[in-house]
Amino acid sequence: MKLRWLGHSAFELTSEENLKILIDPFISNNPSCSIPVEDITADLICITHGHADHFGDAMEIADRTGAMVIANHEISIFFSRQGFETQGMNIGGSSNFHNIKITMVDAIHSSDIDFMEEVTPGGKACGFIFQLENGKKVYHAGDTSLFSDLKFIIGNYYKPDIALIPIGDRYTMGLQDASIAVEWISPQKVIPMHYNTFPVIKQDPEDFVDLIKIKSPETEVIILDPGETYTG
Ligand code: NI
Ligand code: MN
Repeated sequence: MKLRWLGHSAFELTSEENLKILIDPFISNNPSCSIPVEDITADLICITHGHADHFGDAMEIADRTGAMVIANHEISIFFSRQGFETQGMNIGGSSNFHNIKITMVDAIHSSDIDFMEEVTPGGKACGFIFQLENGKKVYHAGDTSLFSDLKFIIGNYYKPDIALIPIGDRYTMGLQDASIAVEWISPQKVIPMHYNTFPVIKQDPEDFVDLIKIKSPETEVIILDPGETYTG
């Protein structure tokens, strides 16, 4: 399994069977992503919510690659009306893509779609759990605050091996809340995201490492540079 961080909340997850899942493909307007959007490919695109820093270049990439788009019901309708192949889901539901099980989970956040100077209701923000062919689970939290089901549903029930957690504050959890989320989820590895893309979400990830050493010492923090790949 490979996870390439494209900056912000954008990740390219490559499975054991070499399927490429693109999550929140904010590429061309992403100040921390230097990869040209034309170089991005995908077999599947998953979107956690409608905000431009997550919806990103999903249309361009879906159009060019033919990748199916998975999102909540409302965003899925939005895509299908533009002629794209989509699969709508909702919180608590799962869907199979080849031998990968994708579960949509809750996130506490908003989700309106800001597209072509029009704001369209975008349903409910979510996170995803990807259970890969070998059984390993990767959790992408999307944008979220701290909420109790991170402990009861994500941590105690889904038990992800790797968690991708926002730490930027202002629009999502900041360092303190994110460290409590990691304590509750107790993953083997955590990769921080949604920070340092813009000045208002500036964080020093080493401060997150220090907090995790106290809150969840069995969890390893993996700090990636945008463009860098974690192989696990
Ligand atoms: Ni957002
Ligand atoms: Mn965001």
